[in-house]
Amino acid sequence: MSSHNQPSAARIYDYDLGGSRNTRADRDASHRIREEIAPNGPFVARANRAFLGRAVRYCVNKGIGQFLDLGSGIPTVGNVHEIAQRLNPAARTVYVDNEPVAVSDTKRLLADEPNADIVGEDLRNPDAVLSAEPTRRLLDFDQPIGLLMVAALHYVDPEADPERVLRTYTDALPSGSCLVFSQITADNRAEEAQRVIDWFAENTATPVTMRSKAEITELLTACGWELIEPGLVYPPHWNPDPADPNELPAERSATWAGVARLDR
Ligand SMILES: C[S@@+](CC[C@H](N)C(=O)[O-])C[C@H]1O[C@@H](n2cnc3c(N)ncnc32)[C@H](O)[C@@H]1O
Repeated sequence: MSSHNQPSAARIYDYDLGGSRNTRADRDASHRIREEIAPNGPFVARANRAFLGRAVRYCVNKGIGQFLDLGSGIPTVGNVHEIAQRLNPAARTVYVDNEPVAVSDTKRLLADEPNADIVGEDLRNPDAVLSAEPTRRLLDFDQPIGLLMVAALHYVDPEADPERVLRTYTDALPSGSCLVFSQITADNRAEEAQRVIDWFAENTATPVTMRSKAEITELLTACGWELIEPGLVYPPHWNPDPADPNELPAERSATWAGVARLDR
């Protein structure tokens, strides 16, 4: 949780994507990050968000009609339920976030939307998320579900036991479900990554944990997920769409992204 005087990950991300639901503290933070810490911040956000859109479309085209979006963020252009409903008007979506602005804006956006809702909860409490009323009302756990952990697991530090978190969600899902996953990494540009880690630890209530491609692969595999082609790649390289932003070399996105499938 955060106050408006302290920058928040959700609101900095909103600003980097061109949104308006951010405070002076978030805008100042975004500019400081770009100028002094990691010049590619907005590119990282845009490349990640574009990946999310392509991956959701991929899942719907594979027949998935319901989504659980963990760390969903402040509503922006192209929200999961909008992307999914464009291809399948009956698609259902449950968003989860613990940032107050993300929760209240999402509630407002969804006021007249019967097939989507938000759970204001910490994603590190999977039992609370899975038993929440909107989750039970909107998702059918006997049918494949698209589980989204997009730019979200890097807020789960080792003490919170990310494997326990992912495994608990995974165990609730039936075979044929998909995981849409991305997370920032220090695999290249390690010094810049360290500056990002230090900055988030000092300035926000949401410190970040970078993970290597090997660590992510191990985590997903341990929880029963099988990455589909092309595996874990930089977001711009995952089923690229020429319409999506790609103004810098893909490795500057400093993120590993992929879609995995659950086959039991
Ligand atoms: C960088 S944004 C990503 C938003 C969206 N998933 C996307 O990729 O476009 C990360 C989101 O995760 C949320 N978040 C961070 N830690 C969380 C936690 N422990 N529980 C729930 N949400 C969390 C933040 O509030 C923020 O909205």
